[in-house]
Amino acid sequence: MTTIFTPLTLKNGTTIKNRFAKAALSETLGDKNYQPTKELISLYQKWALGGTGLLITGNVMVDRNARGEYGNIVVDRQQDLNLLKKWALAGTTNDTKIFMQLNHPGKQSPKTISKQPVAPSAVPMTGSNGFAFNTPRALSIEEIKQIINKFTEAAAMAQQAGFSGVEIHAAHGYLLNQFLSPHDNQRNDEYSGTLKNRMRILTEIYTGIREKVGHDFPIALKINSSDFRSDGFSEEDSLQVIQKMDQLGIDLIEISGGNYENPKMQGIGKGAFFIDYAQKVKQIISTPIVVTGGFNTAIGMENAIQNNETDFIGLARPLVMVPDLPNQLKWGNFTSVKLHHLTTGSKKLDKKVGSLIGLSFYQQQMLRIAEGKAIQHTTNAWGALLFSLKHQGLSALMPQRDKE
Ligand SMILES: Cc1cc2nc3c(=O)[nH]c(=O)nc-3n(C[C@H](O)[C@H](O)[C@H](O)COP(=O)(O)O)c2cc1C
Repeated sequence: MTTIFTPLTLKNGTTIKNRFAKAALSETLGDKNYQPTKELISLYQKWALGGTGLLITGNVMVDRNARGEYGNIVVDRQQDLNLLKKWALAGTTNDTKIFMQLNHPGKQSPKTISKQPVAPSAVPMTGSNGFAFNTPRALSIEEIKQIINKFTEAAAMAQQAGFSGVEIHAAHGYLLNQFLSPHDNQRNDEYSGTLKNRMRILTEIYTGIREKVGHDFPIALKINSSDFRSDGFSEEDSLQVIQKMDQLGIDLIEISGGNYENPKMQGIGKGAFFIDYAQKVKQIISTPIVVTGGFNTAIGMENAIQNNETDFIGLARPLVMVPDLPNQLKWGNFTSVKLHHLTTGSKKLDKKVGSLIGLSFYQQQMLRIAEGKAIQHTTNAWGALLFSLKHQGLSALMPQRDKE
């Protein structure tokens, strides 16, 4: 019988020792030159020792002029390969695999970072946090080709540094999701219109990376089940993109959903959010999948694997609260993890800074893990707020994502 501790070998031959996958969490532990800090490296060492089979890094930006938030890591020709090697080494301790998540924010780059972000089309961000983003300008074809090259080069550097694989981030409202979405992508060229055209940048990035890294190096994809808006990327589109990527040879598909305008991926206590959609995916492809979002009990995780509802359990916030969750589960010490609703004590203020708290609390705890300090189990949001102000200054108070 397949259990959560049964290894799985991907198409390309990479074996992952168990069915736990740490989903990407933007650690915001890059230095002022967008390089990994010693804290970031220490964090991955701790996670690797905690028993998770696959660690997916927080989103790494492929262009230093297009960043999503403060503390991002950028991987380009100016990056110090030795620091990346240390990060990869930490993440491969204890027979662990580490995939680098590659991203470009597109228009989801706040005013505090981008005077004029780029996007498929000059469609401004909507939603209650829209004010925090400048209206983007549309990319030229030449710029699209340059971005494709940047993804390809970043993947090649990850491989050179000793990462076990890469994951292309095409979810959560960032650039590749913007191209997939008919709402965001209103161009009039071969990168727009039909689904084949809207996914062209993604397929070109995939084939570009594949040509550089060869067939033995795993390439994963994180994709939305849907954007959950009527004029966005639909479930039907998503299934077709997954099928196409499968035909092209993708090694692993991670399923999430929503964006920061409609954050379906980050509820609390609602169970695994995308498990029904995963069943539809499993009917059309045989490539292994990771379902991320909402797992919080041992029984829920074990059942999802035993019933073949997913091949990997994607965990983000739970692995912050319990960094050695897989080991604990193995020893019979883990039954469930509770994610807390944080509050400032004022409903009005919570409404204003809720999105910031939701991210900064986990960022604060990741730094604590790196420094060997205990996780804080609290519902009081003030510590997380002060943490962000200390690290980012007043710009922390401006939303960095559309809405969460
Ligand atoms: C602080 C924070 C940072 C995140 N950063 C990323 C990221 O860089 N890339 C990504 O694909 N998802 C990111 N996510 C989303 C998670 O990967 C995941 O999809 C979501 O938290 C739901 O999973 P969970 O219920 O296990 O936490 C982030 C979530 C949080 C809370």
